[in-house]
Amino acid sequence: MDIKSAEFVISNTDWRKCPNSQLPEFAFVGRSNVGKSSLINMLTNRKGLAMTSSKPGKTLLINHFLINNKWFLVDLPGYGYVTQSKTIRQNLKEIIRNYMLYRQQMTNLFVLIDCRLAPQQIDIEFITWLGEKEIPFCIVFTKIDKLSKGKLTENIDFYKQKLLETWEELPPIFITSAQTAEGKTELLNYIEQILKLSVL
Ligand code: GTP
Ligand code: MG
Repeated sequence: MDIKSAEFVISNTDWRKCPNSQLPEFAFVGRSNVGKSSLINMLTNRKGLAMTSSKPGKTLLINHFLINNKWFLVDLPGYGYVTQSKTIRQNLKEIIRNYMLYRQQMTNLFVLIDCRLAPQQIDIEFITWLGEKEIPFCIVFTKIDKLSKGKLTENIDFYKQKLLETWEELPPIFITSAQTAEGKTELLNYIEQILKLSVL
């Protein structure tokens, strides 16, 4: 799929104030600093579209980006940034949770996982919660440019095994790098496929 246009529309703390439109939304979620905003820039080929930072806790709002005037990419705040105050963390958790639970236009969620790390409890708990709430999601491993091919395969296999302890079937899995644009075609094709199905 070609991205012909990508524009920032609005930032919000409340899903009810998100764009008043029925267009499908694809949202990016994951731990703070995992690379959500960078991935959005990579997919849209626009460097400064979503704001990124080497410090965690950059995105604190729900950000809507209109793509090809037909669908939205949604950049969500990260979860689990431990040095934030408890109140801020709780607020962010509510913002993310309510968006996922109540935003009907939310078509698919991409859960980002840093490929370098062993499975983290916070991510596993979050994925389990998605299952309980029947929220459709994929897993996207990020920053694969930082690992050798061998180590990457090892980590991903380990992650799959961990998921299979509780899941009968694995969700779709993508491996990406915002640096090298690996995984871009696969992710955009996946979105395109869902968009086609949703208009049938
Ligand atoms: P919050 O908004 O704080 O939740 O973070 P985020 O998940 O949006 O992360 P962001 O995109 O701001 O990236 C965090 C840091 O990781 C930045 O320094 C990015 O340059 C870096 N980064 C993101 N993706 C990649 C990648 O694929 N490869 C490499 N090498 N660095 C990356
Ligand atoms: Mg961000």
